[in-house]
Order: sequence, then C-alpha cells, then structure tokens
Amino acid sequence: MFDLTNKVAVVTGGASGIGLAVVERFVKAGACVLLVDRNIAKIEGAVFHQADVSAEDEVRGMLEQAKSEFGRVDILINNAGIQPLGVSFNELTPQLLQRTFEVNVHSVAFGIKHGGQLLESGGRIINTGSFVGMIGSPSGTAYSTSKAAVIHLTKLGAIELAAKGITVNCVCPGTVLTPAVTDIPNNPEISFVSKATPLGRLAWPDEIAAAFHFLASDDASYITGANIPVDGGITAGWNEYPLTSPNNIVGGHWHD
Ligand SMILES: NC(=O)c1ccc[n+]([C@@H]2O[C@H](COP(=O)([O-])OP(=O)(O)OC[C@H]3O[C@@H](n4cnc5c(N)ncnc54)[C@H](O)[C@@H]3O)[C@@H](O)[C@H]2O)c1
Repeated sequence: MFDLTNKVAVVTGGASGIGLAVVERFVKAGACVLLVDRNIAKIEGAVFHQADVSAEDEVRGMLEQAKSEFGRVDILINNAGIQPLGVSFNELTPQLLQRTFEVNVHSVAFGIKHGGQLLESGGRIINTGSFVGMIGSPSGTAYSTSKAAVIHLTKLGAIELAAKGITVNCVCPGTVLTPAVTDIPNNPEISFVSKATPLGRLAWPDEIAAAFHFLASDDASYITGANIPVDGGITAGWNEYPLTSPNNIVGGHWHD
C-alpha cells in the first residue's frame, strides 16, 4: 500500500464508481481527501464539496476549498465524467457534443490550469481517460472523442507543468463495473466487452483505483505525460483472430 500520509487530494466524481474507489483507497492510505461531486455523498474520512466541474469557476473553487480546509493541495484527480455512448454521427447534436465536452474536457483542461496554479511542487494531476479514447469504437462520436482529448491534454499539461514540479498523467480504464455501466438495463456492452477483452472480464473499480494510487505516490516521481491503460488488454489487440498458417511453414520452419 503506497503511503499518502500528509498529502491532500481532491477527487472529482468521488460519489460513485471509479472516483469512489479512489476516495476509499486514498483515505486508507492516510491522505486528506476532498470528495467533489455534483451529487451529495457521505464517505467516512473524506470531506464532501458539491460542484459541477464543467464550470471553470467551480473547478477553481474546489481547489481553493481544499486549500482552506487542509492548508495545501498535492493531488488532483480529474475523474468526473458522463458517458453518452451509443450515439452515431447521424444522431449527433450540437448540444450533446457541447455538454460532453464541457463535462469531460473542460473539467480536465481547467483542472490542469488551476491545479498548475494551486498545487504544491511535487504535486500530481491524474486524469481519467478511457480505452475508447485510444481505439476507434462505433457510436462514440461525442464520448470517445472527449476521452481522446483528455489523453492529449494530459501530454500538454505534463510539458507545461513540469517546470513547477507537477506531474500530469492519465489512466485509461477498460469497461468497469460501475453504476454508469451496470445501471443500463440489459447493457449489451457488458457481454461484448467481456468477450473482447483478453483477460475475459470487466474491471472492478478498485482495480482502476490502484493505478491512480500508484501514480499519486512518491514512487511515481519520474512518470509524467503518460497514459496508462488498465483495460484487461483490450487495447493490445483482438483476443480472437482465426488464422491459418501459410504453406511456407512446415514443421515450425519458414520455407521461402
Ligand atoms: N465505467 C466505465 O466502464 C468507464 C470506462 C472508462 C472510463 N470511465 C470514466 O471514468 C470516470 C468515472 O466513471 P464511472 O464509471 O465511475 O461513472 P459513475 O457514473 O459511477 O460516476 C461518475 C461520477 O461523476 C459525477 N459527475 C458527473 N458529472 C459531473 C459534473 N459535471 N460535476 C461533478 N460531478 C459530476 C457523477 O455524479 C458521479 O458520481 C468517467 O470519466 C468515465 O467516463 C468509465
């Protein structure tokens, strides 16, 4: 268990799913945690702050709140997000694209901006991307594109904040058993992605939180600008690809 004693962390989207698992881990590791969400939540050991992270002033406000509550901020987890999947180009509207980018991209961009101004030197900013921000997925017009932007913002943030001693990284989960996925009745994503994933199953939220925990720790001091897939291997490639060897291979040897 990586020790986070004396560290102050702000975790957005901390009321549910991956964010909640991060909050629980960080509290156990000794951090002071400001749990930020638009939905009210009570988690033992964490201080709750209500905010909508799509608004720049609320992003700044949550960091200032953590500073006034705990005296400093060391770790910012930009995790809150919405997942409007299943939208093809035909169904795409300006409102859907705009709201997805406000929640998923503005939150991260302004988190990096204000985190860069308010975090201590040695600080950590860790963003939540998605495997569908790394590879093409049908009907991900708004969502997948927003997550591709998160991966790129991570790189730009890492370059710019390096001079302040702040690292910026991204964790890209595969499909995770959180309410965003399990609350959809008969969600076909569950069986499809389980089958397509080399490890043959979806992730538990704490398996994703473990990567955040490592990146937030002192042991990750030389990692910045990285995107770490925690996806059971789904971005490594297909897990089924039926092929027949050509006739040139005889007894395990290649014959020209
Ligand atoms: N579950 C998955 O399969 C999966 C896979 C890849 C990436 N992700 C990403 O992980 C992150 C967390 O997702 P999750 O599955 O835990 O979802 P979730 O719905 O369980 O939790 C998301 C939390 O974010 C909060 N939130 C949403 N919009 C907000 C806003 N504007 N301001 C403040 N809080 C807001 C919600 O209230 C909720 O508590 C998201 O960025 C999501 O896109 C999830």
